[in-house]
Amino acid sequence: MLLPTARQDKLVRATDLDALSCKVCASTKGYFGEKDRFLAPLVASYKSNLQFCDGYTALSAERTLRAAFSTAKFPLINRGTFLRTRALDMVVDRFVLEQKKCQVLALGGGSDTRAFRVLEKYSQVKYMEVDFPELVKIKKLAILKLEILQAAVGANEGIDLIEVTSKEELRDMYSDFVTERYALVGFDLRLCSKGDKAQAAAAFLFLDPSLPTLIISECVLCYLSPGDFVGVLRFFGDFLEHPSLILFDPMSLGDGFGHSMVSNLSNRGIDLQTFQTFPTLESRQALLEEQLGFSAYLTDMAAVGGFSVPDLNWLSQEEVQRISSLEMMDEVEEITLMLRHYSLIYGEKNQRAHFPEELQWKLQPKYK
Ligand SMILES: C[S@@+](CC[C@H](N)C(=O)[O-])C[C@H]1O[C@@H](n2cnc3c(N)ncnc32)[C@H](O)[C@@H]1O
Repeated sequence: MLLPTARQDKLVRATDLDALSCKVCASTKGYFGEKDRFLAPLVASYKSNLQFCDGYTALSAERTLRAAFSTAKFPLINRGTFLRTRALDMVVDRFVLEQKKCQVLALGGGSDTRAFRVLEKYSQVKYMEVDFPELVKIKKLAILKLEILQAAVGANEGIDLIEVTSKEELRDMYSDFVTERYALVGFDLRLCSKGDKAQAAAAFLFLDPSLPTLIISECVLCYLSPGDFVGVLRFFGDFLEHPSLILFDPMSLGDGFGHSMVSNLSNRGIDLQTFQTFPTLESRQALLEEQLGFSAYLTDMAAVGGFSVPDLNWLSQEEVQRISSLEMMDEVEEITLMLRHYSLIYGEKNQRAHFPEELQWKLQPKYK
């Protein structure tokens, strides 16, 4: 039996499987154009190793994986997954092209494949991912097993393959995996806010604090308490000399749809803690600018998808036509409502090269 806090953490870690299964479905349906070839190794690693994770048995792991991967997602979920991935990719691309020599830090990177894609595409970038040690081990086992992942992260040839066959082996395995350009580190982000700051900084030694750094938090900080949410951002704002942020999170907007999002998740035992404390774009802007000293550019995903603000052109006409032809989507009002509850926020502090104006414009709430 897990203690209540360990049970809560297990549920939060399980959200990674949701995110992965959504990406697998969107990729299979053709939303990303070319299939994301890095997804399959991560799914395979989950299939082999989830049974050894805290709070799972072979049977419950099998049931969980079947529930995640056996049914296709609704078109509106696929569209949302595509938009979120595409928008963050665009911001990362622009940041990297603008800053040239820089680094990316993905908080709660889970099974996301962006690190592999970015490292493959841009040779001047360093990329670090942190998540709970157990999830980092699942990703590390995938990397140790497959050459395509090793090649993407610049791992030397001849690294040892580790196969885990029991809970004890997974528990005792060293979580981190580091190359010259990539670091995968097992770390509980709450320690940035609560713990000894010097100790927390030691977990991020891979980063050069003087380099422009883009911190990505894709549906991660929402699982922290409001105090930890602010504490984590403050920690990185102090630790890095030129920090930028791209944050994707749900927000309540204080309406009925927001309430039903909270109750759906609380039925699964998940407490979306910052959802209500910072319920709107305006409250998030005030937090970033007034409390944390970032310049912030904000929008919601309905605007990114072209559902609420015309002519923002996050997507080209061809791309809109391409994804519209993949699946029938007659629930336009429903998807607009859902996407309005997801914020996309870019923030920067002391950056040498500023965020491109064209993207600043797209991220301004006053255009809504
Ligand atoms: C919804 S998943 C998103 C994963 C990934 N960012 C993506 O978009 O595919 C949330 C992730 O945040 C991680 N996470 C949540 N709280 C965390 C914490 N305190 N420390 C480290 N990781 C955390 C979870 O383990 C999980 O991998």
